[in-house]
Amino acid sequence: MLSIKNGSLIYDLKKDTKTYALKNINLTLEEQKFYGILGPSGSGKSSLLYALSSLKKLTKGDVSYKKEQLSKLGDEKLASIRKTDFGFIFQKHFLISYLTILENVLVPVNSTSKYYKNRAKELLSELGLEHQMNKKPYQLSGGQCQRVAIARALINEPNVIFADEITASLDHKSAENAMKVLQKYRNGATLIVVTHDPSILKGADEIIHIWDGEIKDIEMTLQASKHFSERGQHQS
Ligand SMILES: Nc1ncnc2c1ncn2[C@@H]1O[C@H](COP(=O)(O)OP(=O)(O)OP(=O)(O)O)[C@@H](O)[C@H]1O
Ligand SMILES: [Mg+2]
Repeated sequence: MLSIKNGSLIYDLKKDTKTYALKNINLTLEEQKFYGILGPSGSGKSSLLYALSSLKKLTKGDVSYKKEQLSKLGDEKLASIRKTDFGFIFQKHFLISYLTILENVLVPVNSTSKYYKNRAKELLSELGLEHQMNKKPYQLSGGQCQRVAIARALINEPNVIFADEITASLDHKSAENAMKVLQKYRNGATLIVVTHDPSILKGADEIIHIWDGEIKDIEMTLQASKHFSERGQHQS
């Protein structure tokens, strides 16, 4: 469904110093699965996430989404895929300062329909923000703003959710709850979570270990192996 083929991302800072943020990556992600991308700081986790989501263009190689090669699409078509199919949660929350919390969550749907308003309220309540909906972002803590960004990413029921270190500003309990909400409300969306904290990847189907811009290992979790063995039994 979403794949990267022979993908490299090179930063040319000065003439002779090249940084390979990604080196010849090959990866295929399937519908409805939960993926973790795990690796130390500077290993290329964000680069991989942004390359997959078309926010960063590869230096070499291709990214395909639903059999379409993203590098061949125009900016307008790409922007439209990002708007309708993708949900983003970044390391920084990027809330709009002059909108209320509820309005911020509704930004991606550009609608004040009852359905979305109720969904927004439900998401915010699940994230422990039921009393913050009419406040402005500056009245909230960093961790609370991050949770608003999670609700905003889920509001329009995207097909793929890209999440970059979203639990870094949360305490352990809030981080666990945020992950639970993501899982509960993703409605079958593919979930890709970048982190250096494996404890938040409970329930992931596969964990992609990245090191120095390369995939070192793809770990099938217990969950995934159980799924495969059940499938195997059905087939035999
Ligand atoms: N805009 C940039 N210009 C130059 N080099 C960059 C840029 N962005 C990232 N890099 C380099 O690319 C490599 C991978 O960076 P990336 O941000 O993908 O790592 P990361 O695993 O997400 O790290 P972190 O856990 O600290 O967020 C690093 O060596 C980094 O210094
Ligand atoms: Mg990063």
